[in-house]
Amino acid sequence: MSENKPVAFMNLGEAKAELKYLRAKIRRHDNLYYNLASPEISDSQYDELRMRLNAIEERFKELVTKTSPSKQVGAPIFGSHFRKITHKKPMLSLDNAFSKADIFKFMDKVSKFLRIDQATLELCGEQKIDGLSASIVYKDGEILYGATRGNGYLGEDVTGNLKTIADVPERIGLPGEIEIRGEVYMPTDSFMALNEERKLQAESLFVNPRNAAAGSIRQLDAAVTASRNLKFFAYYMDSFGNDLGIATQIDMLQLLQELEFSVAQYRLCRNVDEVMDYYEQMLMTRNELEYEIDGAVFKINSLKLQEDLGFVGRSPRHSIAFKFPAGEAKTDIIDIVVSVGRTGKITPIAIVSPVIVGGATVSKATLHNFEEISRKGIAIGDTVTISRSGDVIPKITSVVEKSGNCVPQSPTTCPSCGSTLEREGESIDLFCMNYHGCPSQFARYAAYFVSKHCFDIPGFGAKQIEEFIWEGRIKSVIDIFRLKEMDDHGAKLAQKPTWGEISANKLYAAIDSKRTITLPRFITSLAILGVGEITARLLADKFETIDNLMNATKVELRELDGLGKTTTEHICSYMSNPKNIEFVQDLLRYVTIIPYKRTETMDTTSMFYKKTVVFTGKLERTSRSQAKQIAASRGAIVTSSISSKTDFVIVGNDAGSKLGQAKMLGVTLLTEDEFLQHAK
Ligand code: IVH
Repeated sequence: MSENKPVAFMNLGEAKAELKYLRAKIRRHDNLYYNLASPEISDSQYDELRMRLNAIEERFKELVTKTSPSKQVGAPIFGSHFRKITHKKPMLSLDNAFSKADIFKFMDKVSKFLRIDQATLELCGEQKIDGLSASIVYKDGEILYGATRGNGYLGEDVTGNLKTIADVPERIGLPGEIEIRGEVYMPTDSFMALNEERKLQAESLFVNPRNAAAGSIRQLDAAVTASRNLKFFAYYMDSFGNDLGIATQIDMLQLLQELEFSVAQYRLCRNVDEVMDYYEQMLMTRNELEYEIDGAVFKINSLKLQEDLGFVGRSPRHSIAFKFPAGEAKTDIIDIVVSVGRTGKITPIAIVSPVIVGGATVSKATLHNFEEISRKGIAIGDTVTISRSGDVIPKITSVVEKSGNCVPQSPTTCPSCGSTLEREGESIDLFCMNYHGCPSQFARYAAYFVSKHCFDIPGFGAKQIEEFIWEGRIKSVIDIFRLKEMDDHGAKLAQKPTWGEISANKLYAAIDSKRTITLPRFITSLAILGVGEITARLLADKFETIDNLMNATKVELRELDGLGKTTTEHICSYMSNPKNIEFVQDLLRYVTIIPYKRTETMDTTSMFYKKTVVFTGKLERTSRSQAKQIAASRGAIVTSSISSKTDFVIVGNDAGSKLGQAKMLGVTLLTEDEFLQHAK
């Protein structure tokens, strides 16, 4: 797979293969989003997939198909219980902009297409409401029907449900057929209250207000929809040729208001600076709104020009959605609790009033360690800003207002097992050293042990692990491989109310399929401090068998390039503890390590082979020197400055000017996770 290869360097075969992969992936995520209201990826990750698809199709025009997601909006409607309605005109989508440069590009395209001077163009700036679009058709003032967007051409008839929304007028004072389009949304407070209630009823929670709105409008019982406090902002109307006496988008919004529709904030923008002003103001004030917005939409104000511009693919040429970057939000600290990680590391966690950050509800944020708490003077009751990027644990970026409460002091004993906490070497972190007896530590470790980084047992998550520990089925991770035996001795898993024969057998089969393991994974699964997947591979390369590693001397470990002093200490201390030796020997009675082959011979098929790679920013899962070594072992030429010859830039946290340079040169950017995944 040529994924992430710059499009300019792709050949036809690679483009074909990646298009196939991208189209399938986008269709899957469309279905999750539109039909099942349960997305698995963030909006920005989704946008990246679409952008990559568009970029490849732009270069390889011969590979564009009519059925490509680039030509379609939304998802095909599967398993829907609603009557289908064909939209009078397709309900399309908008192209996205992410920067001022993209806005310039948009303006440029529009003026070139219309062959008019850019300075004469006026735009209507609107809030981009984070809900779902709906269409309501009125005939002679009465609602004829209302539909969801569906796949853009065919929507679902949700007339009864739309009628329950207070902002949808029952009647309008206009004759003939009039279509109104807008966004159905759920105010943030109503979303929070709904989830609170669902939590009490042990029902699954909605991930954000948009999904709650989507789930609520697609209820078979309109009474349920009515109980959900949905709202509607109108932004478009069509009279199918009858003159409404309006000339601009702003006239349209005003007419909609006169017809008693709710219309979100908008503003006339006369140039790119005014567009940026509106965007920035929306970005700064989004937290003060009662509803979620995920950007601003800019539409060419003249309706005549809008018509002249027409459509390309699935989007109109006249409008663009300027999306907000993954977010930051303001909230209050309700409590500060202490968590014990799988290696015994003590981490203070702030429990905060739930807020939506970057499209997901956040109720916890890491405070890293107690030194950080005292340095920032963080206390319960403080108002703080929280940021979140991708799947990384949300963190507190700044304290907005101090409560004046006491700053919590570092604990001296483990909150889970009561043993005395210690510092490891020069680390500022505190550790519970009761590796084999601390319940919290064990639960975390067991969840890690079955995770994709270690034994990778499918369908076995942290929840089941906790349940099994609680029931006494698992007292050591080795018990995972003895579950079936225990079952045969009467601890019948199949008889548990939530399990049954099929699920139990599926789990046993999954466990059985993982009784052989590679050496690096086996080493990773020991959860030695500082030894993640990368160091594990390094150790496997050097020692080749688990026995050699168990018997390694400090001198041998120190010889290893890329292994820090502290990690060397951790490995030695792990290997010299008799309990650990016994544990490894015991585990090996149930699992087999696949004989290890060194990776010294260079992998010429790696996407990094003979490519120039630059690292920038702080890496989280590995040190810079280890990462460089991995890249080099895959045949990459690692350099420190970016030029037109650079193939990949691996971007860590707080990356500086190199990131800007890379973007300017159009170099392929990879996150640390992507790099590690491709370097596997
Ligand atoms: S205009 C051709 N205006 O954003 C589609 N859309 O990313 C014209 N949205 O499908 C849509 N606020 O669901 C428009 N003020 C606004 C909007 C808005 C939210 C949604 C809408 C659309 C999606 C496009």
